[in-house]
Parts: sequence; structure tokens; C-alpha cells
Amino acid sequence: MLVPRNGGGIEQFSVLITMTIVSEPQVSRLCREAEESIRDCRWLDLATLMVTSADLVSTKISEKDLECTYTIICSLVKNVKTPEEVLEMVKAIASKVVQQPDDKASLRLKILFNLYNLLDHPNARFQVYMKALELAVNGKITEYIVPSFKKIDSFLKEWSIDIKDQREVFLAIGKVLRENKSLAEESLQFVTKYLATFSNEDAQVLSEAKEEAVRAIIEFLKAPSIFQCDLLDMPAVAQLEKDPNNAPVYQLLKIFLTQRLDAYMEFQNANSGFLQTYGLVEEDCVAKMRLLSLVDLASDESGKISYASIKNTLQVNEEEVELWVVKAITAKLVDCKMDQMNQVVIVSRCAERDFGQKQWQSLRTKLAAWRDNITNVINTIQANKVTEEASSGTQGLTVR
Ligand SMILES: *[C@@H]1O[C@H](CO)[C@@H](O)[C@H](O)[C@H]1NC(C)=O
Ligand SMILES: *[C@@H]1O[C@H](CO)[C@@H](O)[C@H](O)[C@H]1NC(C)=O
Repeated sequence: MLVPRNGGGIEQFSVLITMTIVSEPQVSRLCREAEESIRDCRWLDLATLMVTSADLVSTKISEKDLECTYTIICSLVKNVKTPEEVLEMVKAIASKVVQQPDDKASLRLKILFNLYNLLDHPNARFQVYMKALELAVNGKITEYIVPSFKKIDSFLKEWSIDIKDQREVFLAIGKVLRENKSLAEESLQFVTKYLATFSNEDAQVLSEAKEEAVRAIIEFLKAPSIFQCDLLDMPAVAQLEKDPNNAPVYQLLKIFLTQRLDAYMEFQNANSGFLQTYGLVEEDCVAKMRLLSLVDLASDESGKISYASIKNTLQVNEEEVELWVVKAITAKLVDCKMDQMNQVVIVSRCAERDFGQKQWQSLRTKLAAWRDNITNVINTIQANKVTEEASSGTQGLTVR
């Protein structure tokens, strides 16, 4: 709509500023500077000048006017040629847009989205997206950016950013999702992605992930409906085991993923005050541990669990046994039938708690068995083919 290339937008812009606060001499000075920048094709200077002015008046003008102003400013990116210049201008604009998150936050986000769509430069797009995440949290408008997380994989591919920047993205998204209590699980997913980017690097790089590793563990322990996670074996998480301050957190994760209620009870008695420190609720931890212990029983005892062993392992009354089985079924942790007559639970399926070494090993064994079986099948088919060919006397094609 506006033509900054020949300075057409500037007139409208100066009218805007005049209408608001700035005194007449200031306006003339601004306009003079703007005209000079245009004359010399100093587009970055022009953009900087305009965002500064727009920022001054933003609380005093309407949404429509602010949007117009930024449309002019953002279109300036089309005037610069090199990727470096684009990046510099984008940074100048975006950092101003997010500076007053309490004023017209959703409009500011829209401005950033428009700027994003205007850009061809992948890294510049990435920079704008990061600013949008920041604005979403500070302006308390996370609901507008959450839908974009579904496309994050294709964004990452498009931006082709390095691992450090990827970490930044995953962390920032985790933070956005944490703002909304009902998205805690999604938040944990992104923090997990972040932690998974660390391999066995030197201890210094790993240690930068410590805080998030602890946070992720606590989130997992708290989450009432997450029973599985890959955290335990990740280097970023495993480093906590030898960290004096955080070893108990790791130990508790290990109990939740590999042990039963008795181990948890022992931990709790030995670490008084631990739960409060991390905002964990004893009752919830015990409930989750009971369900996890039940899953462990279900996977251990070749498809059958006696009511008695449930009662003992879960440390519940006899009358509560079926209640806990139903809870596990409701949480989709097991598929099973209760045989009240014989006081046993017949398990047809149960969830894996932690897809770790043991599960990979078991999967490998199963695959090896299938491979052998398939080899047998192929051999049988080929043997039949040979017999068939021999009897018919014709040449056929065989697939080897
Ligand atoms: C939180 O997330 C839920 C589920 O996506 C959504 O319905 C709700 O609007 C969100 N609340 C806020 C304040 O964003
Ligand atoms: C392999 O074949 C045998 C007999 O044909 C069968 O008992 C076994 O279950 C099969 N194993 C797998 C993993 O399918």
C-alpha cells in the first residue's frame, strides 16, 4: 500500500506523529532525517528511526494506525539486498516490536507474523519467530502461537539452524507451553527434545542442561497421566546421578521408571523434605508409584497377577485391589480381565515404563526371531519353486 522506496510512506508517517505527541520542531527534524536516509538509501537508518518514533507514540495511537506504521516499516526489508543487511534490519524492527508487550500484545504478534511472511531469508525468519515466542510469554498471549508448534519440524528444516539454535527453540517453546497448566505434557515433550540434543559432550556443555533436566524430571513425576519417558538414559539427565545436589532427583526418577512402591517408600523416608522442596505431593507420588508398580507386576509375571501380590506390592487393602486395577485400565496402562473367583488378573497387554536398554534388547531378540522365521519361509517357498520348475520343465524368474 505504501511506497517507502520513494519515500511516499513517510508523509503518512509524519502526519501520524504530528497527530500525537511530538512537538512541531521534533517532527520536522524526524522528517528531515528520514528524507536524508531515503535520499542516501540508508534503509537500516530509516527503519531504526521509524521504529523508535513508532515506539514513542504506540500507546497513544489506535491499533489500526500502529499496524499501518509497522506495515511501512516492515516493507523496508524489501529494499535491502544482502542477507546480513536483512538480518540487521529484522533485528532492529523485531526487538522494538516486543519491547512493550503490555500494549496491544496481539497486534504486535500479528506484526511479527506479517514480517515473518515477508521474509525469504531462513535465518531472519528464525530470528523473528524467536521474538514472537518471547512476546507471546511476556504479553500473555501464548494461545496465538501455540498452534504453530505443530509445524515446528518443517520450520526447523526450513531454517536449517545449528544445534545451539535448535536448543533455544525447544526451550523457548517449552517455556511458552508452561504458561498454560493444561499444556504441561506438551511442555515436557519439548523440554525432552531439548535434552535429547545433548550427547556425551564434554561435561561443561552438558552442565548447561542440568537445570532443565531437573525441571523435566520433576514435571514427569508430577504429571498425573504420563507414565513413560525416555529421560533416564539421556546424557543430559544421567549426569545428575553423579551431581551431589541433584543425585536424589535422578534417583527418584530411576525408582519411578524401574522400581516398585517399596523402593519409593524407602526413598521418601530417607529424604525428608525432598518432596516439599520440589513441590511434589506425597499422595500423588504414591498413587503414581502404585500404578507403575502394577505395570511392573503385569509385565513380570507372564500374564497373570494374583490379587495377593497386588495387595502386597501396592500396599493396599484387599478391597482396594480391584479399584487399582481399574485405575490402571482407565489410564490405558494395561488391558486385562479380573477373575474374581480365582483372585487373579489376566493381563493381555501392558505398557512399557521406560524404553531403555532392556526394551531395546527384547525388541532386538524379537526381530532376530522374526528374521529367522522369515528366512525359513523364504527357503520353503524357494524349495517349492524348484520342485515346481523341475516338474514343469520351464524356466521361471525367481526373486532372491
Ligand atoms: C490452555 O490450553 C487449552 C488447551 O489447548 C486451551 O483450550 C486454553 O484456551 C488455553 N488457555 C490459555 C489461557 O491460553
Ligand atoms: C517363529 O516360528 C515358530 C514356529 O514356526 C513360532 O512358534 C514362533 O512363535 C515364531 N516366532 C516369531 C517371533 O514369530
